[in-house]
Amino acid sequence: MSFIGINYVYVVSAAMFILGLKMLGSPATARRGNLVSALGMLIAIVATLLAQGLDYRWILIGMLIGGAIGTAGAYFVKMTAMPEMVALFNGSGGLASLLLAWSEYHQNPAMAPSLTLVTALSVFIGGVAFTGSLVAFGKLAGKIPQRAVIYKGQHLINGGILLVAIGAATLLYLKPDSLTGYLFFVTIVLVALGFGVTSTIPVGGADIPVVISLLNSYTGLAACTAGFVVSNTILIVAGALVGASGIILTRLMCKAMNRSLANIFFSGFGTTTARAPGEDGPKGEVKPASAEDVYYILEAADSVAFVPGYGLAVAQAQHVVKELGDLLEANGAEVVYAIHPVAGRMPGHMNVLLAEANVPYDQLVEMDDINPRMETIDVCVVIGANDVVNPAAVDNEKSPIYGMPIIETFRAKTVIVLKRSMSPGFAGIENALFYGENTRMYFGDAKASVQALVAEFKSGN
Ligand code: TAP
Repeated sequence: MSFIGINYVYVVSAAMFILGLKMLGSPATARRGNLVSALGMLIAIVATLLAQGLDYRWILIGMLIGGAIGTAGAYFVKMTAMPEMVALFNGSGGLASLLLAWSEYHQNPAMAPSLTLVTALSVFIGGVAFTGSLVAFGKLAGKIPQRAVIYKGQHLINGGILLVAIGAATLLYLKPDSLTGYLFFVTIVLVALGFGVTSTIPVGGADIPVVISLLNSYTGLAACTAGFVVSNTILIVAGALVGASGIILTRLMCKAMNRSLANIFFSGFGTTTARAPGEDGPKGEVKPASAEDVYYILEAADSVAFVPGYGLAVAQAQHVVKELGDLLEANGAEVVYAIHPVAGRMPGHMNVLLAEANVPYDQLVEMDDINPRMETIDVCVVIGANDVVNPAAVDNEKSPIYGMPIIETFRAKTVIVLKRSMSPGFAGIENALFYGENTRMYFGDAKASVQALVAEFKSGN
């Protein structure tokens, strides 16, 4: 295939990536969006292979091994383990860019000095993304301690590591084509691998999804720079798209939590129970309810909004919640599922779980759409959510979550909260909602509690 011909094919692939990304923006089109992007990538790979005249044996072996791992992952990895899987994918992308740039330098150390710098950048970002993603995977999978590792002089050490990398890149730029140049190159590789670890360990386990999204953007940048190194247009375009979408997602997550990236990286957030000095606990009384009490409340409701949170994922209660939703609809109630953008522990966590249970997309309501009509909702059923419904975010300036947008369930006519105890959520703070005048606490594992309600409905009590 000619140079011009292959670039036409790459334009088609790039357009499919962009279309796919756009479709990922809505749960209704996300699956198709994934397929469109994957098809775009297949077209780009086939065109590149045909154009390059490579030794296909190695490529076939690589594709078979990679394809087998990907297929097994798609079938066997549980939905709740998706963040770990994404972390590993991410790490592989970073490693691939590192190796690609390294092999280019190895084959041609006398490359133009400006290209040497781009190669060093690709290796550095790829290395950071690789080991950073491995640490993220280890924390999420519980293979290493999830707590934030914070020590004195941490910023200095990290700053020092970065300076070593910049120094080595400068020396490499000056003397690329020599043994010393090669040693500087290897120094950059080692420093990058180390920096990936030291810059990720200060983040606590529950903030790791934000870090994965940021590392995802690094992987995109590494691929983009690797594209410049090997002069491959589609790698530049795909890398830039991944880099940009990763950083946009990171920003959205920070905004939804009302926290800065610096706070996520350096504060050790959520590791301590926070009550501001001199601040009293929530006022009011906790009013426990039994399955029968909750049944009577729900049975009389004309509108019900389920508000799922991390506890729904822990309990794997999505299927039985859908069953309860159907029973409520059959009973004449309007049923919606109100989704907070950072409910759970990864972007779209609740959407994925509810989609798995076949909850219709038109019943999913975003926070900004449900809040203005909250007063009209008869019953809000909060299922394993805590921080994302904590009124402290709107009325307690001393609270660490003050300013975070929440689903304002406290304004509904009645609120029923399903959780196992009075324990705090991820932010480690108390929740005044549980003491509210209009709130009833229905204690227990979310799945068992909802199953008991389903049984009440089925028996007509
Ligand atoms: P959380 O505030 O973490 O609260 C989850 C609640 O679920 C806990 O209070 C827990 O109470 C309950 N729970 C756990 N297991 C349960 C079970 N088996 N049955 C019933 N309840 C159970 O969750 P949220 O409201 O979804 O908020 C998410 C938090 O994570 C936010 O602070 C957010 O900023 C943070 N975060 C989210 C993301 C993304 S992208 N989603 C990324 C990083 C951080 P009990 O122990 O009493 O049962």
